[in-house]
Amino acid sequence: MCGIVGYAGGRDVVPVLLNGLKKLEYRGYDSAGLAIVAGGRLEVKKTKGRLGALCSLMEGRKAPGAVGIGHTRWATHGEPSFENSHPHTNCAGDIAVVHNGIIENYQKLKKWLQQEGVVFVSETDTEVVAHLINRFYEGDLLAAVKAAVSHIEGSYALGVVSEKHPDMIVAAKKDSPLVIGAGRGENLIASDIPAILEYTRDVLFLEDREVAVITRNAVSIFDEYGMPAEREAYHVDWDAAQAEKGGYEHFMIKEIHEEPRAMADTLMSRCRDGMIDLSDIGIDEALVRDISKVGIVACGTAYHAGMVGKYIIEKLARIPVEADIASEFRYRDPLIVPGQLMIIISQSGETADTLAAMREAKKRGAKIAAIVNVVGSTIAREADAVLYTHAGPEIAVASTKAYNTQLMAIYMIALELGRLSGHLDTADYQRYVQGLNRIPALMNTVLQTKDQISRFASQQFSQSSVFFIGRGLDYVLSMEASLKLKEISYVHSEAYAAGELKHGTIALIEDGTLVVATAMQRSLFDKTVSNIKEVKARGARVLAVCFEGSDMPADIADEVIRLPETDDIFAPLLAVTPMQLFAYYMTVEKGFDVDKPRNLAKSVTVE
Ligand code: F6R
Repeated sequence: MCGIVGYAGGRDVVPVLLNGLKKLEYRGYDSAGLAIVAGGRLEVKKTKGRLGALCSLMEGRKAPGAVGIGHTRWATHGEPSFENSHPHTNCAGDIAVVHNGIIENYQKLKKWLQQEGVVFVSETDTEVVAHLINRFYEGDLLAAVKAAVSHIEGSYALGVVSEKHPDMIVAAKKDSPLVIGAGRGENLIASDIPAILEYTRDVLFLEDREVAVITRNAVSIFDEYGMPAEREAYHVDWDAAQAEKGGYEHFMIKEIHEEPRAMADTLMSRCRDGMIDLSDIGIDEALVRDISKVGIVACGTAYHAGMVGKYIIEKLARIPVEADIASEFRYRDPLIVPGQLMIIISQSGETADTLAAMREAKKRGAKIAAIVNVVGSTIAREADAVLYTHAGPEIAVASTKAYNTQLMAIYMIALELGRLSGHLDTADYQRYVQGLNRIPALMNTVLQTKDQISRFASQQFSQSSVFFIGRGLDYVLSMEASLKLKEISYVHSEAYAAGELKHGTIALIEDGTLVVATAMQRSLFDKTVSNIKEVKARGARVLAVCFEGSDMPADIADEVIRLPETDDIFAPLLAVTPMQLFAYYMTVEKGFDVDKPRNLAKSVTVE
């Protein structure tokens, strides 16, 4: 996944690159490096480990007016090491490359280059790019990069500098994100907007197979045929401060506190006077007249939002819904029927599996509506229509506020499909829309459970295994709760449909095993309570989550989290936050890096 950044301008390039990398560390953090062209010489500094190690290495080094590129790595080819860190250079050490993506045919290219006498020093796929550029270089860096990328199969966002061209960065992109920041007397490239926001709010998006030359005073973009490409700047209206911690100890806890606002903004962007309007994304009478099926495709947390979508769209609109994990969907020869709507959910809008699944569905004739957080991202650009969530930048690797806003978007779609299909009458529609509108305010009450959850986590953090159980929407919520806990606290956990436990998994419950039971589906409350009793009888310690007024028997739960009353169908919107807080506090107690869990990265742009 890796993050790349580049700068051409009058400032000292070293802090600009290091600050940019800091904003991109969520994309990978196992090594980092810089290449600077200053005084006609290319200088490369890189090191294994977190960005702090590179900052120490660069201490005291100043390079005003130089051009430079930087990289933070999430290892794909070769372990995190000095040799495998970017930037990579050609043998003469006068061309340097940073790369995000995967060069799929790198072995073939490497063999060919080795036969020509090139000596490789790393195990990476990226190193072939530096040598390829050198192989095609005849005095024109842009032409050499173009020739090199024409031989590459796979995905790439590239930043290239050379000491023979001390004023320029050449950038190229295919299937990995790359933005260009257009400043005054300075221009930048980066994998993501927060890295450049301190210097400019005007952003140009490079399209697939385009290359660009970036100098201090100009940005020139060329399409795959070498023709100049026009590009309008997108003005970023969110603040750099939104991508900072703002006094919180971690991004994750800050982002959880932003949920009420993010959910309200997402709802308000589409809801006026008690009516939701999604006609501009094609959710209208005409669509519903022909609709036969809805497909939902996403990965990880976004997939769990999709699973909620399956339950509520089927319930409110009585339209069959299939929810798929993107990496499975793309290879299972999926059946797309005429009149099928595909909903693609992605925070980053760049997830490789989700993007490929979307392309597959499009190829097979589905109409695509994407729920995306990052404006201008690839999925947003390629979908037929986009429903943007308004979570703002999400920096912590574990998704929190973005998930809540994805749910908001899904509820809006379900309500509209219900109204348009005639399965929801006006009174029910209005009641649900009012209920949805009350959620952001109720979320402020939900956040007040944090002291109780923090206290409970301080007693439970040494648990080696946790089971999350629930029925119906509470089961889907449990899947997300379990993912959140395991990804940041490294505690093994499983989500189970409460009624399914007795078919095998209950064998794992022993004295003291923690079971987190959600019982927020009133119609299933008694059944869930029976399942809680089953685990309690086998010695489990139980954390129960229910509505304020629920009649949770005092003898079966060791701790009860009570949440404000709302309709059962909105339960996941409220109940996920205590689960996120639980994962957060368990991780803090264990002393792990909450925002940057091991082996993960924020934006998964590899398959
Ligand atoms: C978990 C998490 C991941 C992402 C998944 C999809 O907290 O963040 O499971 O949800 O990698 O990412 P997006 O939504 O960017 O497509």
